Amino acid sequence: MKGIVFSEFIELVEEKFGLDIADTIIEESDLPSQGAYTQVGTYDHTELIQLVSKLSEHTEIPADDLVKTFGEHMLQRFVALYPQFFENVDNCFDFLDTIENKVHVEVQKLYPEAELPSFDSMKSENGMQLIYRSNRPFSALAYGLIRGSATYFNEDIDIEMDDQSSDGKSFVVFTLSHKN
Ligand code: HEM
Repeated sequence: MKGIVFSEFIELVEEKFGLDIADTIIEESDLPSQGAYTQVGTYDHTELIQLVSKLSEHTEIPADDLVKTFGEHMLQRFVALYPQFFENVDNCFDFLDTIENKVHVEVQKLYPEAELPSFDSMKSENGMQLIYRSNRPFSALAYGLIRGSATYFNEDIDIEMDDQSSDGKSFVVFTLSHKN
């Protein structure tokens, strides 16, 4: 996983919980990188899982909730870092429809070593289904990124998650619909 994800995570922890907690979770996790992340480096994604689980222990907030919040924050950061992906797109579902065939394709070109999930998307009259597949367990991150996208486009959406993951492989069907 790219260093940018880790550095954004540590920054958010510092901002929300303070520098001490950030230092503590880095020290208490058994990290090959020792928490010295650079934006362009690549690190084992299990380091993020360890950091989140330590943060969950210290804050008593469930790990999934922490990761969802991180996903929402990450989306805002993507808006600032990669504004080109938001140009000429005017609603949340159209944007989510571009992740598989445009956004992550460009990300893979920028960072050939990035490990990206796959998304199948199907739009319907009043909603959308997104199927998340990955060898990594980051469906809560996907949830947060979807929630963050809705916030960015000023839309109120319901997100249902049907987790059919097995054998360490993620397979999650997200059903999205507009609240009315
Ligand atoms: C402009 C928008 C976006 C950009 C620039 C972007 C970029 C990235 C990058 C750089 C990574 C890390 C890959 C690695 O380090 O190996 C990543 C991972 C990921 N992205 Fe995106 N992404 C965007 C939007 C989204 C959205 C909206 C979703 C959800 C629908 C999403 C779902 C994920 C997930 C779940 C991962 C974690 C890896 C995994 O699950 O296997 N991304 N993305």
